[in-house]
Amino acid sequence: MIESSSENLKQMASAQSADFIQFENTLRPKNLDQYIGQKNIKNNLKIAIEAAKRRKDPLDHILLHGSPGLGKTTLAHIIAAEAGVNIKITSGPALEKQGDVASIISNLEEYDVLFIDEIHRLKPVVEEVLYTAMEDFALDLIIGKGPSARAMRISLPKFTLIGATTKLSMLSSPLRGRFGNIFKLEFYEENDIREILMRSAKILGCGLDENLASLLAKSCRQTPRIANRLLKRLRDYADVKHESVINKNILRECLYTIGIDELGLDSMDREILRMIIEKFRGGPVGLNTIAAAISEEESTIEDIYEPFLIQLGFLERTARGRLATERAYEHLGLEFPI
Ligand SMILES: Nc1ncnc2c1ncn2[C@@H]1O[C@H](COP(=O)(O)OP(=O)(O)OP(=O)(O)O)[C@@H](O)[C@H]1O
Ligand SMILES: [Mg+2]
Repeated sequence: MIESSSENLKQMASAQSADFIQFENTLRPKNLDQYIGQKNIKNNLKIAIEAAKRRKDPLDHILLHGSPGLGKTTLAHIIAAEAGVNIKITSGPALEKQGDVASIISNLEEYDVLFIDEIHRLKPVVEEVLYTAMEDFALDLIIGKGPSARAMRISLPKFTLIGATTKLSMLSSPLRGRFGNIFKLEFYEENDIREILMRSAKILGCGLDENLASLLAKSCRQTPRIANRLLKRLRDYADVKHESVINKNILRECLYTIGIDELGLDSMDREILRMIIEKFRGGPVGLNTIAAAISEEESTIEDIYEPFLIQLGFLERTARGRLATERAYEHLGLEFPI
């Protein structure tokens, strides 16, 4: 197999360039019915939205967490659309001062959604003002300095905060406790990924039949973003080869060229497993050691590679470090030591 550069999956897993953002927007489902999979979350959301509408209350604050590309941002937009309100978007690192929070929330209309992406990256001072904003729809500010300083409370429109994070464990418990709904987005079932591929192929106008979509779905790491990215790569590949319809050969060749195997693992996944097995006798080995051995950042390994390797049952996280499982040995064609 031709080994791809490690940039491949990293690029595919996270939203980056303007082109890519544009591409994602065209494929983004616009309402709950178009949003495939995550049935549990959808059912809960339908009830919560309906109940809030009946009571004429704002929706309870919602926290969405899960691996990159599983549909958190998409869902935040859909929630606002289904509730019939506006959405304002910001992110943890963009809110630098308490005043940033004050101005963004006071400009909301009643019941609007404020979406804070990467909410685990909020500064503590900013987080603190969010507490009263979320609980009492008010901000306590100190005006002036020294002896003449005085406390002032301003009331805010009733709003719904939707927070998204890939790292729930990095969220402080007081903040976590202020969300009425906490939803974990799961990796998608193969059938759901197939459906996402069929929907996207239709929007992009590329010929992909059900059988091929099923085949491709196996390589998409159970992640919609990766499914869409692979579909795009496949379409480009078919174009270059002057094939109007994507067929099995094109699919196989394309995946081979970008170094993705039948389970969706790329060269970096295999390198991580191989390294743990060959250099550390299968582990346990610490994350920092793995990162140093393959020259990759710890956070990239933790956020992008590990969750799927764990999901496949190839890797285990133990108190003493990461452990390669018997299934990982099998997948790489290596003998498991007894
Ligand atoms: N349930 C779904 N049904 C159909 N398409 C989906 C679904 N979830 C996500 N997608 C597609 O996957 C792409 C990535 O989703 P999204 O940007 O919402 O992920 P995310 O969880 O916010 O990722 P990140 O953690 O990187 O911010 C979207 O462009 C959308 O087209
Ligand atoms: Mg997002």
